[in-house]
Amino acid sequence: MTHARQHRTQVVAHRGASEDAPEHTLAAYKKAIEDGADALECDVRLTADGHLVCVHDRRINRTSNGRGAVSALELADLAALDFGSWKYRGSLHHRDEEPDWVHRPEDPAETSVLTLERLLALIADSGRRVELAIETKHPTRWAGQVEERLLLLLKRFGLDAPASPEESAVRVMSFSARSLHRVRAASPTLPIVYLMQFLSPRLRDGRLPAGVRIAGPSMRIVRNHPLYIERLKRAGHQVHVWTVNETADVDLCVDLGIDAIITNRPRAVLEQLGR
Ligand code: G3P
Ligand code: CA
Repeated sequence: MTHARQHRTQVVAHRGASEDAPEHTLAAYKKAIEDGADALECDVRLTADGHLVCVHDRRINRTSNGRGAVSALELADLAALDFGSWKYRGSLHHRDEEPDWVHRPEDPAETSVLTLERLLALIADSGRRVELAIETKHPTRWAGQVEERLLLLLKRFGLDAPASPEESAVRVMSFSARSLHRVRAASPTLPIVYLMQFLSPRLRDGRLPAGVRIAGPSMRIVRNHPLYIERLKRAGHQVHVWTVNETADVDLCVDLGIDAIITNRPRAVLEQLGR
């Protein structure tokens, strides 16, 4: 069974081109757009003063020179920090010389905290269609505020109410069905993606939470349960897989007719797909 090349697999840059540049920074998203990614993935969290920022972890300790939880800090606190140096330090560990692929941005704005608003503006200015897959983090703590702010921001960019899910340039992803249902209630046509780290027994027959048409399984689920993926596809669902960085995994995704490959290495995956 090979679906290869009949079906255009979307290549989604996970946290930007996050193998090459610090995740969730302008540098990483600019690189992903240059690389030709079809779409970008970002995680969003709310700051203490109600701004949606692109940060994966609950705390900023790993990816910045600051400390503390995003939800306890204001945007101005985050804006004073450096979200880039950790990556260059980590990547260059044990190397005598800086390798060619390291392009340290000169402008500190390229590696400072990124608001979702700034990311939407970057996409709007990119000059081509670049889709955005937005993952809501910590949605339960804020009891609907993450989704409410998100919908308001999307409205400002004219992206909150697409004519149909197929035409939408934005989709919302979450491990929380409750978060997705809030989005669905606010916008019936905005696509929603149910993320799954492990395969729950109640979903093995290929069902997804009510109203969800797109499954977002981990690569681990795809490797361990390819029949489940085939069941989802037969049931008419799209399947978007994360995080796909190995060539053998890309091949498996293509064979299974996966709709979107979410990867830290968009350029390498596009090349593997012959694009
Ligand atoms: O694209 C979904 C994937 O990003 C979910 O996992 O931990 O990288 O946000 P995580
Ligand atoms: Ca994510």
